[in-house]
Amino acid sequence: MADQPTSQPKKLYIETVGCQMNVLDSELVVARLRDDGYELTDDIDQADAILYNTCSVRQHAEDKIYSALGRIKHLKKKKPELAVGVLGCMAQKDQGQILKRAPHVDVVIGPGQLGRVPELIAKAKAEATPQMAVSLARNAGSREHVTSSFDSYDADREPAVRPSTFQAYLRVMMGCDKFCTYCIVPSVRGPEQSRPPSGIVAEARLLAMQGVKEITLVGQTVNSYKHKEADGRITRLSDLLARLHDVDGVERIKFITSFPNDMTDDLLQAVRDLPKVSRYIHVPAQSGCDLVLKRMKRMYTAAFYEEMLARLRETIPGSSVSSDFIVGFCGETDESFEKTVGLLERSRFKNSFIFKYSPRTGTKADDLYPDDVPEEVKRRRNHVLLDLQTRISLEDNRAFIGREETVLVEGRSRSTTRKEGWEGPDQLTGRTHCDRIVVFDGPDELSGRLTRVRIENASAVTLFGRVAEGQVAGPV
Ligand code: SAH
Ligand code: SF4
Ligand code: F3S
Repeated sequence: MADQPTSQPKKLYIETVGCQMNVLDSELVVARLRDDGYELTDDIDQADAILYNTCSVRQHAEDKIYSALGRIKHLKKKKPELAVGVLGCMAQKDQGQILKRAPHVDVVIGPGQLGRVPELIAKAKAEATPQMAVSLARNAGSREHVTSSFDSYDADREPAVRPSTFQAYLRVMMGCDKFCTYCIVPSVRGPEQSRPPSGIVAEARLLAMQGVKEITLVGQTVNSYKHKEADGRITRLSDLLARLHDVDGVERIKFITSFPNDMTDDLLQAVRDLPKVSRYIHVPAQSGCDLVLKRMKRMYTAAFYEEMLARLRETIPGSSVSSDFIVGFCGETDESFEKTVGLLERSRFKNSFIFKYSPRTGTKADDLYPDDVPEEVKRRRNHVLLDLQTRISLEDNRAFIGREETVLVEGRSRSTTRKEGWEGPDQLTGRTHCDRIVVFDGPDELSGRLTRVRIENASAVTLFGRVAEGQVAGPV
């Protein structure tokens, strides 16, 4: 019998920049497109569809995408049936401007419209016209109206495209209502919405069935999570953590990112009392100077932040905290910067993400204040904070030497070991209960399991160790 002609799967190339929200969104977009007959490729030259899931938080993130779009122009000339898409926050922010700057783009789809990706790609191809789907601007109507234009997009989960088999993100809320003056996120991600807890718990069960051991709850201000049922019952993040704690198969739960003002005692106590919850909190300070914090509209003072941190550490022994800082924000003087240095020095964060202020069109800061700190000064301040944080991270990591830690093993470590100059065979990598990276020798079977590791060495970003005695019985 002659072979039946089979249709070749179409090839999808996707690049993701930005935060965990985008990583999760890309996973969901890929899941839908696989249902549509696409399979993933790493080779952009082979792709039938090229998608960029974009970020607008700083200019640099946008520049990267516009130059990537420039680089693939020739592919589209060679292969006119190629579909090119710009998804995510930059699509929502720049909208039609993207098609002007890059006319070879076929679809522009904002983060609140991602469910429409397969349909719009097909339509753009069938009609040979670019398609755009974006949500409403924050000032385009009533809160309900604007909110309903940002669809929740949390249906399918696709284990095959997750960065790790044992770890998954789980969205608990969308959008942001804080409107820090420098930040574009509230405009591009829309109003704050907390998902109903029943849906979140059901999704956690599904993930556990797929073999996920560690769930990271994501939201722009995740500790502001609050869901009100029709009968008036309120679920806070602490209640949600308790419910997720009962999901069999889930061994570890994290949540990012927290807002300092919403760090309530019930949440801290939940982290202390629920053994599956990581003793790790990411709660950005942004600055240590009250004048700058006020201009940023962060709604707290440096003293408030430090008191919050003291309360956190008193309630949760053995916890680690990480932070974000912006240097060179409008009006940041040497004196204000010194206050940030002082706060960073006293706070002993596990790590800090440090960014140079990047003005964003459409934000309050961009309208009200000149970007008056020279690039050179921003760069220097960035280095000062980074160096200080590295010194602190190294000191605190070295205190782990000689201790035994419970590590959730994530798998073989390529990048971590290579970056640190290791030249032997790949080792295993995982994280401690307080989110420190551990690299150690061990058999593959440990992947996805909680394992005791004895720490023998440390750098500023990694602990190095070996499996504690009695943990591995030998080859299985
Ligand atoms: N929702 C999170 C983080 C959102 S963006 C939170 O509120 O903590 C991640 C980080 O990017 C922020 O914490 C901030 O430090 C930085 N950031 C945001 N807008 C920025 C801008 N315009 N320039 C430089 N850094 C910025
Ligand atoms: Fe941006 Fe502030 Fe919202 Fe974080 S809390 S996403 S920094 S507006
Ligand atoms: Fe960037 Fe959007 Fe996340 S702007 S930081 S990808 S919410």
